[in-house]
Amino acid sequence: MKNASHQPAKRDSFASSFGVLVAMAGSAVGLGNLWRFPYLVGENGGAAFILIYLGFVILAGLPVMLAEFIIGRRGQASARGAFQKLAPGTHWGIVGVLGVICCVFIISFYSVVGGWCTEYLFKSVCFDFTEGDPENLKTLFSSFSSSVWLPILCHTIFLALTAGVVVAGVQNGIEKFSKVMMPLLFLIIIGIAIRSMTLPGSGPGLKFLFQPDWSKVTSQTFLAALGQAFFSLSLGSCMVVTYGSYVKKDANIISLSSQTAVADTLFAIIAGCAIMPAVFAFGISPGEGPDLVFVTLPHIFSQMPLGGVIAIFFFVALLLAALTSSISMLEVVVAFCIEEFKMKRKAAVVVSFVFIWILGCLCSLSMGPLSNWKILGKTIFDLFDFISADFLMLIGGLLIVIFAGWKLGKAVVFDELTNGGTHPVPAWLLKTILFLIRFVAPAALLAIAIFQIHE
Ligand code: PFF
Repeated sequence: MKNASHQPAKRDSFASSFGVLVAMAGSAVGLGNLWRFPYLVGENGGAAFILIYLGFVILAGLPVMLAEFIIGRRGQASARGAFQKLAPGTHWGIVGVLGVICCVFIISFYSVVGGWCTEYLFKSVCFDFTEGDPENLKTLFSSFSSSVWLPILCHTIFLALTAGVVVAGVQNGIEKFSKVMMPLLFLIIIGIAIRSMTLPGSGPGLKFLFQPDWSKVTSQTFLAALGQAFFSLSLGSCMVVTYGSYVKKDANIISLSSQTAVADTLFAIIAGCAIMPAVFAFGISPGEGPDLVFVTLPHIFSQMPLGGVIAIFFFVALLLAALTSSISMLEVVVAFCIEEFKMKRKAAVVVSFVFIWILGCLCSLSMGPLSNWKILGKTIFDLFDFISADFLMLIGGLLIVIFAGWKLGKAVVFDELTNGGTHPVPAWLLKTILFLIRFVAPAALLAIAIFQIHE
């Protein structure tokens, strides 16, 4: 592109391909993998759901991720700027703005949950779950999450940790942090999975996860699989556009995208093996979301030999997973502020922090004193989740593939996929990717959007 080489100031960038991979995997691996994927798998037919999920990752997830990479690396700018540079004089920049808004909404409630993880890590270090009968633990969690000050303090700590990494920059903050934390996160979750699968009576948990049961597959299953694929791979929010703008010209974006998808899916499956066998071994019915990680699991840890130590490792893992994801979302907002309002990184982080902190406080309070404030019948927390995950990410994904496939077009897509012809990619693969970007991914996203509206 004619503007791409005339940058006013040198942009920050990732130093190595491994750095991009761990940062991408860090964004993808998050709460979605730990508290939602295992439950969705079990409820929707085990291996049957995993196959449908993988189908969506390949047919819709990967094309959107590649399209975002293409837009970001080609545009060499943050969310809005990249679209604007590639299509000057048009309104395509709005897609970038929607992505930034989406990240603001997600990080606002994500940071509240990240705060809960911080508090529960603290509790586990103090061996607070030793008297863990389920009713007590349920009351403990609901009185904590609905109170005013402690959750806000925890949300503040979590958001400050996120900001602390982002303020150090892409190479010195995000990349360095992810390089250490992501391998650690994988090691912890593998260790817990081994412990969980070797508990007596863990068999039914593995059956729940992996035995294919096609009778449980309904139209809802497809909706759940696509929604989960999008949220889990952090797509449609311009996160990959932003990270893509920090990726070097010689990086192979096809293998980066597939490696990210493999790492994310593998982590989700290992998380399932860490959680479900233990849940079943203790004869508890599996749930999802906050109840699973803040009530059911602490109860199990209190019953399990070595459970006190496993609890610490589990909450470290949960916190790290949440942190690396929120870092990626904050970077989208910060990069936008730096480029659109010509701010210094530090100022951009402070402004984003304050704004997101206020929204996060509202989310936190909506679990307690503000629980009666409802818009569209939802609390603020649920509303932010709904607008971002069920709406903005899917619309964003649809517009992104249309932009890459039709507006930028074949020549640009092929040029980016082959790094300007220097990296050989078989012609059939290029054509297949273009076909997925132009037809298959938009069709899948459109179908799901229409389905959602009809619901
Ligand atoms: N992928 C994260 C998860 O599975 O929890 C959530 C997420 C991160 C969504 C970053 C969007 C995003 F930009």
